[in-house]
Amino acid sequence: MIEQTNQKEVELIDLILKKKLPEHVAVIMDGNGRWAKKRGLPRISGHKSGMNTLKEIVKCSGELGIRVLTLYAFSTENWKRPRWEVDFLMRLPEEYLQKELQNLIDKNILIKAMGDLEQLPHRTQKAIKKAREDTKNNSGMILNFAFNYGSRSEILFAVKSISIEVTKGNLRPEEISEKLFEKYLYTSGLPDPDLLIRPSGELRISNFLLWQAAYTELWFTRVLWPDFKKKHFLKAIHDYQKRERRYGSIRI
Ligand code: FPP
Repeated sequence: MIEQTNQKEVELIDLILKKKLPEHVAVIMDGNGRWAKKRGLPRISGHKSGMNTLKEIVKCSGELGIRVLTLYAFSTENWKRPRWEVDFLMRLPEEYLQKELQNLIDKNILIKAMGDLEQLPHRTQKAIKKAREDTKNNSGMILNFAFNYGSRSEILFAVKSISIEVTKGNLRPEEISEKLFEKYLYTSGLPDPDLLIRPSGELRISNFLLWQAAYTELWFTRVLWPDFKKKHFLKAIHDYQKRERRYGSIRI
């Protein structure tokens, strides 16, 4: 049951639920730093506030019946940030999972994580491992976190793994199809994202799901992630539902 907050949202939810929902929504949670700067606060306040938005969007996605929600939490390029910010960003998943895990279990949410997880601090890895383990039998929404994720390195990893199979004689080059290639990506088993949301006014994909987003509908807003609310999420879905997806074909 959807928790309804105001009349406009109620109406929007009604409209959304009459149409086909995106099965997989991906989000680049951007703008935390600028949100903090605008308020004269340290950047980490922006990330803390961004975590509240994350909670709201996870809740709303689960209630709507979205099947997969993928959130870009830390990119392979984010290591270039100052040490104190990286340390803080590494502690956030631990804090979030410590506080929220029981709630996520109760909501039947299955937690996944993708990226080069072995490079994360031991404590972060441990928290992620526990969350995956404790939710592995859940059959509701898949909440997929991208941690230390970079799409180019994901694709290279797939290429290397496939090359090894070819070298070993387990695979012939002519057997390498799109379907097979996808099995070697972190997202193996998940549908491609239908909708990619990026707040903060930036109009780029930033090394996120490059292969998987080939036919994804993109939705941008100037709203910064900590200010991004349920109403923005609903608007993105509603706009998505108005689009015509042709996948290179024509309208018949
Ligand atoms: C980009 O904004 C945001 C990040 C690199 C981190 C996103 C992380 C969170 C929202 C919290 C994650 C919490 C969990 C539980 C995974 P930015 O800092 O690049 O913003 P800016 O472009 O305005 O500086």
